[in-house]
Amino acid sequence: MSTLTIFSSAPARAAAEEAPAVTSRPIPAVLGADLEVPVKGGRLVGYANLDYAASAPCLEPVSAAVTAALPAYSSVHRGAGYASQLTTARYEQARHTVRAFVGARPDDAVIFTRNTTDATNLLSRCLPAGTTTVVFDTEHHASLLPWQKSVRLAPPAFPGEAVRAADAALAGIEGPKLLVVTAASNVTGEIWPIAALAHVAHRHGARILVDAAQLVPHRRLNLTALDLDYVAFSGHKLYAPFGAGVLVGRRDWLAEGEPYLKGGGAVRSVGEDAEWHDDPEPRHEAGTPNVLGAIALAAACDALTATGWTALVREEERLIARLRSGLASIEGVRELSLWGDDHPRVGIVSFTVDGYSAREVAESLSSEYGIGVRDGKFCAHPFVRHLLGGQADEGCEDGTASAVRASIGIGTTQEHVDRLVAALRDLVSR
Ligand SMILES: Cc1ncc(COP(=O)(O)O)c(C=O)c1O
Repeated sequence: MSTLTIFSSAPARAAAEEAPAVTSRPIPAVLGADLEVPVKGGRLVGYANLDYAASAPCLEPVSAAVTAALPAYSSVHRGAGYASQLTTARYEQARHTVRAFVGARPDDAVIFTRNTTDATNLLSRCLPAGTTTVVFDTEHHASLLPWQKSVRLAPPAFPGEAVRAADAALAGIEGPKLLVVTAASNVTGEIWPIAALAHVAHRHGARILVDAAQLVPHRRLNLTALDLDYVAFSGHKLYAPFGAGVLVGRRDWLAEGEPYLKGGGAVRSVGEDAEWHDDPEPRHEAGTPNVLGAIALAAACDALTATGWTALVREEERLIARLRSGLASIEGVRELSLWGDDHPRVGIVSFTVDGYSAREVAESLSSEYGIGVRDGKFCAHPFVRHLLGGQADEGCEDGTASAVRASIGIGTTQEHVDRLVAALRDLVSR
């Protein structure tokens, strides 16, 4: 073994030794759990953050991993110094951690991106010429908009209808095809039948991209077991708000697609022409990558895995059931749902309040009760319009009504949920 190899393996070993063992641990804390915010009258109250679906707070182990990596922070991939090698090892270890977290195949590419939007756009530029994308109108804009040639399907009335509609659409398409579908809706939280959709896609020789931005913070996802081709998600929704996301999946299209960014790192050598890397990771990660973002994302994956999904899902289901039954008990509050009350969902609930615009509700919850929720169409305009039946609201930019969304996760307490229900009850009784 050469001296360089011995030297090179030390940082890799150091990085590997940091990886936590997978044993069940208590649910970790989030930063900002004790944040106080002003409400009307100048009082300070504990912030009830019910906006996790937009961006989740940072997990303590994520913050700790970033803090631990910072003193040795250095350039990655091309530096000979020890700190550079250690940082490179940490960055590449993050790739392995993410691969394991989503149960990817050993030869799948794991490309760090900025977020889910960046990941879907990256894939859209690597599709073989003439690829037709099939996408439901229920998608977030990140998965609805990047495609050059797409067939859009109406919101399906029930899960089996989603599978049937995808089947029919894919059957009618010649040439390369890609089915794009969200794993859990960012509007209703409802979980989509991605295994059945993957099966249908493959039967027609298509591939499937799953937008897992809202699923992975709440449920375990196994790309191999579900037979998915690509998965995209964002660190900031996974308790790692440091600006990294990821695209995981089959190498061939990514190895052949135009480099996403053209510059250092993506090329092997440059003369008159550039000779681009064939490996998807360097090919699409030109420039200095977001190393701390990748380390943070991997730390979140480790922390969730170490806690165990059973404990996480149990607590989330308890709180979301309490929230939904609280909302259902208030006359004039209507939950939005595509597939009905009993369909499985993650910790996301959207609703309207009779007599109030969504903006009025969200503003009142913030200014009077210290509750943070989201109002609008949640970057899923066609879907929210569909769910609201095109109701009018002159106050909204497009003249159609919008909704309020409450979303929960690690750090959400029963008091937060009860405060929201009590505040809405207050509001409708005025
Ligand atoms: C289902 C879904 N897909 C994609 C996105 C886009 O994520 P990002 O803004 O991190 O790119 C979101 C964000 O809200 C989402 O909920």
